[in-house]
Amino acid sequence: MAQVIASRRAAVSGTAVRTRKKRPFLLDLYSTAVGKKYAMGISGIALMGFVLFHMIGNLKMYQGASDLDNYAEFLKKLLYPLAPKESVLWILRSGLLAMLILHLHAAWSLTVMNRRARPTRYQSPRDYQVANFASRTMRWTGIIVLAFVAWHLADLTFGVANTVGTDGEFVRANVYDNVVRSFERVPVALFYVVANVLLGIHLYHGAWSIFQTFGWNRPRFNRWSRAFATGFAAVVVVANVSFPVAVLAGIVG
Ligand code: HEM
Repeated sequence: MAQVIASRRAAVSGTAVRTRKKRPFLLDLYSTAVGKKYAMGISGIALMGFVLFHMIGNLKMYQGASDLDNYAEFLKKLLYPLAPKESVLWILRSGLLAMLILHLHAAWSLTVMNRRARPTRYQSPRDYQVANFASRTMRWTGIIVLAFVAWHLADLTFGVANTVGTDGEFVRANVYDNVVRSFERVPVALFYVVANVLLGIHLYHGAWSIFQTFGWNRPRFNRWSRAFATGFAAVVVVANVSFPVAVLAGIVG
């Protein structure tokens, strides 16, 4: 018995003397609320870049089927034959996925941190509303946009939600046809419209928050940041909403 106690004591004093292992700087920073906000900002900028370039690429739809299909083929051949076919595209996809995971993880752990820091709610309902409106909006629009992306991949990348009735087989390279066949379904077109408006709200709040996170928030500058956030969100929403509307209106088809 005495031996057991002695060995336990030895272990305790050993732990006390041991110094804590130093974590890499970026992990240390990420463990703080500020670090998580930086991570959200940086990954947010990368995701905004994707959304913008994806939208610009999709504008090829207005130039016709072969232009859009060739553009998809061009993306597969980035830096080919210097690099194997699709290799650059897969590097870009991996980067995009990493940014999405970082964005989601930082959002989730910031929410947990905030809840722990304020276990009781604000006393005044008004303060509560003001403090939480933006974050609640971001959370809900973010979750719905994420669900939209999952459905969108099933629709236009994997084709499992695309084939209309007995129309035949989904051919991924026929991008234009796939988009048109998808948007010809009115509920699907409406879903795209709603999801893209919610994406716009998310982009607006997100773009604005990036300026606050990095401290670019002098009063004079705030006007420009609001204008940028509004302009960016509006351009993406108007163009993305135009695609299903153009198909339903028979402009594209
Ligand atoms: C009405 C607007 C949109 C249209 C017409 C559209 C069209 C497409 C098409 C045709 C593809 C398949 C490309 C291929 O496999 O070659 C695709 C893939 C994809 N889309 Fe969209 N998209 C739209 C909006 C969005 C939005 C708002 C997001 C994100 C928030 C998004 C995220 C993605 C992702 C992540 C992929 C997979 C990319 C890849 O495989 O490399 N799309 N989209």
